[in-house]
Amino acid sequence: MPVPKKNQLVGLDIGSHSIKLVEIDNSKKGMILKSFGIVHLPKDIIVEGSIKEIERAASAIKNLFKNLNVKNKNVATSISGFSVIVKKISISKRNQTALDSSIQEEAEQYIPFDISDVNLDYEILKNENEITGEEENGSGHESDVMDVMLVAAKKDIIEEYESLIQLAGLNPVVMDVDAFALQNAFESSTGETSGCYAIINIGAEELGINAIKNGVSMFTRDSSYGGAQITEAIASQLDISYEDAEMLKLGGKELEERERVILEEIFTSMVSGWVQETSRALDFLATTYPDEKIEKIYLCGGASKIPEFMKYLEMETGIPVEELNPFAGLQINEKIFDPKYLSDMAPQAGVAVGLALRSIGDK
Ligand SMILES: Nc1ncnc2c1ncn2[C@@H]1O[C@H](COP(=O)(O)OP(=O)(O)OP(=O)(O)O)[C@@H](O)[C@H]1O
Ligand SMILES: [Mg+2]
Repeated sequence: MPVPKKNQLVGLDIGSHSIKLVEIDNSKKGMILKSFGIVHLPKDIIVEGSIKEIERAASAIKNLFKNLNVKNKNVATSISGFSVIVKKISISKRNQTALDSSIQEEAEQYIPFDISDVNLDYEILKNENEITGEEENGSGHESDVMDVMLVAAKKDIIEEYESLIQLAGLNPVVMDVDAFALQNAFESSTGETSGCYAIINIGAEELGINAIKNGVSMFTRDSSYGGAQITEAIASQLDISYEDAEMLKLGGKELEERERVILEEIFTSMVSGWVQETSRALDFLATTYPDEKIEKIYLCGGASKIPEFMKYLEMETGIPVEELNPFAGLQINEKIFDPKYLSDMAPQAGVAVGLALRSIGDK
């Protein structure tokens, strides 16, 4: 097997609508974008994070690697949605051995699946007070609780994604979670490691929310909203195929007046549903963490390209909303990458950039 260069991994974001590939050269001169590509997947190959047609998905991945001439076979990919539970819990401090044995027990109450069906992972988080630098009210002794980030992922989904990558002739090295990969991309592209931010990722079938404080996730939520809702509504109301509806949605054809009115209604109603879902999550956050204030919302995902979403979200929440440009922290050779194309695709590239920043040896 060829030795991978500098432990670098290819970031592969396998979405229900498209697969995105990012390769980053982490050199002495900084981080350089080496490869970027995106391939559309027909409907029904991957549905709500579950792989339905593994052969076709694998051949899409193979073609993507071939067309972009990517030689590195070591891949970092991610999962999300209902099969993954991310939860921050507080437990009393204990030594490593005691922690290992009790974390399973602790986790059971937060996980809606049989514990034997999940892979459980956890990370001890820095103490809140260490992060914020706040005094401990003069009590003078260390807190005896610690925050732990639990990540539980269903084994069958992990196996599905690993099999897909292997079927494409590649090595699955790192299995991440969409929200954390995005958080990585957010930090590397904005340089923000302190402050409170929310990252919203709205793709085809999933709306993911991650609220971060000082580089640590406070809260994540994934729900079943996304651009496919609009496409499905257009297909059903105009009685056309899903693929034709997608084309109409993306402005691929001049619309008749009747079509224009129908599309406008569908866009307005779906987008307002997404805005409501997002502001409900932010309200919950405000109740749970009354002292924290989200400074800015960063948007990514293909469906976030709908300008009304940004506008209504800003109006509804009163928080400034900005598009996340995951390429911002990378050096880009404009002779290789068309800046216009990169900026059009930037909202869809966040997860893949975050994955490409991982290296072999990471868990
Ligand atoms: N310019 C645009 N305007 C409106 N919608 C768009 C635009 N570009 C892409 N989309 C929509 O964004 C969605 C795809 O986004 P993305 O690539 O982030 O999804 P995905 O990662 O494949 O899906 P998921 O993660 O939800 O399974 C599709 O529904 C597509 O129609
Ligand atoms: Mg996605």
